[in-house]
Amino acid sequence: MLVSAKEMLNKAKAGHYAVGQFNINNLEWTKSILLAAEETRSPVILGVSEGAGKYMTGYKTVVGMVNGMLEELNISVPVALHLDHGSYEGCYKCIEAGFSSIMFDGSHYPIEENIEKTKELVKVAKGKGMSVEAEVGSIGGCADPKECKSVADLGVTMLAAGIGNIHGKYPENWEGLSFETLDAIQQLTGDMPLVLHGGTGIPDDMIKKAISLGVAKINVNTECQLAFADATRKYIEAGKDLEGKGFDPRKLLAPGAEAIKDMVITKIKLFGSEGKADE
Ligand code: 13P
Repeated sequence: MLVSAKEMLNKAKAGHYAVGQFNINNLEWTKSILLAAEETRSPVILGVSEGAGKYMTGYKTVVGMVNGMLEELNISVPVALHLDHGSYEGCYKCIEAGFSSIMFDGSHYPIEENIEKTKELVKVAKGKGMSVEAEVGSIGGCADPKECKSVADLGVTMLAAGIGNIHGKYPENWEGLSFETLDAIQQLTGDMPLVLHGGTGIPDDMIKKAISLGVAKINVNTECQLAFADATRKYIEAGKDLEGKGFDPRKLLAPGAEAIKDMVITKIKLFGSEGKADE
């Protein structure tokens, strides 16, 4: 059964580790991530962007697929199904479809409007036992710690705050995460689990430092996509699809799926959530 991300993230914050949010794109992604979490006994968050939700034909399909897999694969670690960077309308659709967690990304609204909409969604989602992530400060920039405090006080479950992180690969001249900003946010928001978006390509030592300063959820998407593409390319370039029934999708997609699973296991170990499902 799907669970809210609240308990797993509160435990992570108190225990000084982070739970990974791995974005899903299709059946292979979902299966690989769930198997990786089960094998390492780690809680996990499956992230669904609005674009990926649409690609998979809609949120109801996603909920059906994930719930079916939890049962058929006998998954016994805590799993949350979370809307990633949701719009106001998207949040309502996921609440109805049976997600267990939502992110309302109101970072592009003026702060007053972000607060108003976040407050309303917190009320609705919490009534259904769901967790809610809010975002302050746009990706790439640094959030204002005082604004973070105002949003944290609305009763959100976890808070994403910009600290110089971006989605996708980081450019050569990237200056790194702003630990000064993170520290100031953590000082003001206390127990609130903080979320680090753009996990792809952040060096391991920065990840560890971010966790020590209160990050309890780390989002990874691009790195799994790159691992999948790389393994699939190698399979095709080696001509394996032309050998016997190597073109069978179950064979063609297998190396990519295995690469996603390996990547997720590596991240779970780095984030320190291995074995935490049983604590
Ligand atoms: P990356 O694609 O950079 O890993 O970021 C993922 C993310 O933050 C999803 O919200």
